[in-house]
Amino acid sequence: YERPFSIGHPLRLYKGVWIAEKMLRGTLVMQQCFKSCPTDIFLASFPKSGTTWLKAMAFSTLTRTKCSLDKHPLLTHNPHQCVPYMELQFATGRRQIIDVIPSPRLMSTHLPYFLLPDSIKESSCRIVYIWRDPKDVLISAWHFAQKILGGPDKMATFDQFYEFFCQGLYSFGPIWNHILEYWEESKRRPEKILFLKYENILQEPVKYAKQLAHFIGCPFSESEENQHVVEQIVELCSIKKMKDFDVNKDSDRATSSTDLRISKTYFFRKGEVGDWKSHMTPEMAERLDTLIKEKFEGSGLQI
Ligand code: A3P
Repeated sequence: YERPFSIGHPLRLYKGVWIAEKMLRGTLVMQQCFKSCPTDIFLASFPKSGTTWLKAMAFSTLTRTKCSLDKHPLLTHNPHQCVPYMELQFATGRRQIIDVIPSPRLMSTHLPYFLLPDSIKESSCRIVYIWRDPKDVLISAWHFAQKILGGPDKMATFDQFYEFFCQGLYSFGPIWNHILEYWEESKRRPEKILFLKYENILQEPVKYAKQLAHFIGCPFSESEENQHVVEQIVELCSIKKMKDFDVNKDSDRATSSTDLRISKTYFFRKGEVGDWKSHMTPEMAERLDTLIKEKFEGSGLQI
């Protein structure tokens, strides 16, 4: 499938996953060459589920003793520049970027669990997965695609986009398989996969920031707690703050995480729960909910 269902690259169906041709090439190289270290931390997500936020939170948590929060790299770098997107680095021959990340290496991926390189699955490295109500993912994806492709007249109608999404036709889709596989794996190996939900973090950011810090091996100390470091990190990474940093207002330049001309502004929109209500009819929402409910049945997972 050509545009508009992929963003800039045709989608291929590979082992049941819709994946942009270029990312598939990167994935195959990565599967062959990538060697994971036990200290590695991977941030995994379906696109538009809160990746940017998770990157900011994990990066600022991990680097908090090295960089003071008032001169933090996130003030001058977009989160996608701080945490490289693995498939893309391998697709574009820039894997040396990954080789030089100081340990513990923080990297991100949109790959479904089963397509991760064996060395990630087999080593004792950790994975943090973020998921989100697929209805809001769809809306976020719709706005993102419009920005990249230059407006609604350059792409499918919303109804068409919705239909394709429900068929699983979006980068790394279908979304339900993506979420379910990480969920099942996180139940089997909770020490390896932390399974987080966007909506929960939005509701109790401090609680989840602490859980994240603990999981990635740098829990907040008592004195940090007293100095409200967690709250400061949560504040630094809030969408309200991040949107306002000059670096994220810069609409002209591509991020280093991509060679598409994706402006850094595109990653920050509303950051709310339930924006689907202003786009979908109740019937559309119900149909997608029913579909997801059927797919999640018996897994213990609910939207
Ligand atoms: P909306 O389009 O619903 O606003 P991803 O980072 O996976 O591409 O996901 C993008 C979504 O996360 C967008 O959702 C974006 O606004 C939201 N987002 C980005 N930064 C955020 C932050 N710091 N806090 C909360 N949500 C954020």
